[in-house]
Amino acid sequence: MEVRRIKKEDREDFKELLLLADEQWSMVKRYLDRGEMYGLFPEGGLDAVSICVVTKEDEHIYEIKSFATAKAFQKKGYGRMLMKYVIGQYRGAGGILYVGTGNTSSTIGFYESCGFTRSHVVRNFFTDNYDHPIFEDGIQLRDMIYLSMKL
Ligand SMILES: CC(C)(COP(=O)(O)OP(=O)(O)OC[C@H]1O[C@@H](n2cnc3c(N)ncnc32)[C@H](O)[C@@H]1OP(=O)(O)O)[C@@H](O)C(=O)NCCC(=O)NCCS
Repeated sequence: MEVRRIKKEDREDFKELLLLADEQWSMVKRYLDRGEMYGLFPEGGLDAVSICVVTKEDEHIYEIKSFATAKAFQKKGYGRMLMKYVIGQYRGAGGILYVGTGNTSSTIGFYESCGFTRSHVVRNFFTDNYDHPIFEDGIQLRDMIYLSMKL
């Protein structure tokens, strides 16, 4: 496996994976061009196994906006592999790396296992910003749960 940076003009090729992490395209478009996008690929391959987008929100404040592993490859350690690489890219400069997610134990468990701890909650983020109700694991998402890590 190898990690590559994905150029702005190629990012929509990974729409399916981006929508797996954030199912409303208009919301994805808000940050897609703003940050860096990374993909974990089989060596020489073109189909990403895992992807993520990292934005710079302020001086030394970074945020993972979208993180997904293709369904067939989930729970095999690929997400963790990409996360480790991405953290390495930002570590050293100091600051904080945030990630926001719905209140579902599976994604929170993933981020905690990667070293993030709970930071704060943005109430009604999903109900205020999305044009339809978002369900994950059968539960409607309302609040955005932020986790963070010191870089
Ligand atoms: C969340 C997601 C990115 C995890 O990626 P992954 O490649 O499956 O994760 P990994 O296999 O690297 O898992 C790393 C660790 O995270 C934890 N983890 C992963 N999936 C988990 C789950 N469903 N429930 C609980 N813990 C989980 C485990 O501790 C795992 O390590 P271990 O099983 O070896 O002990 C993936 O499930 C996904 O793409 N989900 C759909 C999109 C999504 O919801 N993205 C988040 C948007 S905020």
